[in-house]
Amino acid sequence: MTNPTPPNLTLHHGNFLLSLILCCWLCSSMAMIMGASATYNVVNFGAKSDGKTDSTKAFLNAWAKACASTNPSSIYVPQGRFLVKSATFSGKCNNKGVTFTIDGTLVAPSDYRVTGNAGNWLQFEHVDGVSIHGGVLDGQGTALWGCKNSGKGNCPTGATTLQFTNSKNIAIGGLTSMNSQLFHIVFNGCQNVKVQGVKVLASGNSPNTDGIHVQMSSHVTILNSKIRTGDDCISIGPGTTDLWIENIACGPGHGISIGSLGKDLNELGVQNVTVKTVTFTGTQNGVRIKTWGRPSKGFVRNVLFQDVIMDNVENPVIIDQNYCPDHKGCPGQASGVKVSDVTYQDIHGTSATQVAVKFDCSSKYPCSGIKMKDVKLTYKNKPALASCNHADGNSLGSVQPQSCF
Ligand SMILES: *[C@@H]1O[C@H](CO)[C@@H](O)[C@H](O)[C@H]1NC(C)=O
Repeated sequence: MTNPTPPNLTLHHGNFLLSLILCCWLCSSMAMIMGASATYNVVNFGAKSDGKTDSTKAFLNAWAKACASTNPSSIYVPQGRFLVKSATFSGKCNNKGVTFTIDGTLVAPSDYRVTGNAGNWLQFEHVDGVSIHGGVLDGQGTALWGCKNSGKGNCPTGATTLQFTNSKNIAIGGLTSMNSQLFHIVFNGCQNVKVQGVKVLASGNSPNTDGIHVQMSSHVTILNSKIRTGDDCISIGPGTTDLWIENIACGPGHGISIGSLGKDLNELGVQNVTVKTVTFTGTQNGVRIKTWGRPSKGFVRNVLFQDVIMDNVENPVIIDQNYCPDHKGCPGQASGVKVSDVTYQDIHGTSATQVAVKFDCSSKYPCSGIKMKDVKLTYKNKPALASCNHADGNSLGSVQPQSCF
């Protein structure tokens, strides 16, 4: 009668192990019956890695399978170059997790007339839970840039390389986008987006080739990316809220820009934007807010620019509320966009022009609540200058150029 527990305990252990094995077997067979996550290789749908054969249909057919699957699924693009024309990958899908794993390169047609008026080259719309890992997207934009730069006119607008529209829970990692005809990566009407380890590569004189553009979107995070292009590294359009940008190398390019905003009267505002730990190298602007000089109900508020290094930047810190290209539709008017609560903290480096800080705000709605803390910008090894127009705020810590509020 003494100590009956040990044998009992052993028995329990045995039972437990047995049920564990049984359960594992059950679970895996159930997953098989229910169609566990499948991988669709585009080559098995007829895609060719020769860079010449049109593989558009193969990609779309692989997408159709992956999207129809009731389990999370993946699309695999092996090494090689795959010629793809304009393609739209549409949801809703039957699952919330389609993963593209790309080892190769998707190449746009070299003749820009093929996709130049399509708006987008690769577009996703109404998708939930799509992620892209790795790969290169080559927009082959050089001929179109040449056309635009020749000034002869008659060039198509060009296609955005990769656009997500009205989508959510998007992740992009380790992707390279090069030589886009127009913007490289766009999020329009998206929620919960994470971009990291992305590279954008285009010539410094390529027109309208913004690196990443965000608009009408919330909870977008852009991390650890390198952007070299001919227009804005990152541009932030109307209706952007809760945007986090961190650890970005920008240049060449036009910097990180909130705007252009306020082109339209009825326009949503931009709020809660953080731009942190960014290096600008030889760019036209550093951190910029840009609005049209015309009536608008838009606004920009609660923005933090922090821990920024400027290396030979033409306009390191700039708010320009008098944007009026070609002097059409705005001369003599004031911007309606209300800019408030913008903080510049730990901004250091060199300006390529004497005026390193320029706040040119709306005469009708002056900028308010601008804070500068620990700023040091030099021009030719001397303190740079600051210029203020209708700007109100305060300085904390050491601020050079001396504030002009
Ligand atoms: C601001 O945005 C971040 C994400 O970028 C979010 O975590 C935070 O809650 C937002 N803050 C407010 C006040 O909305």
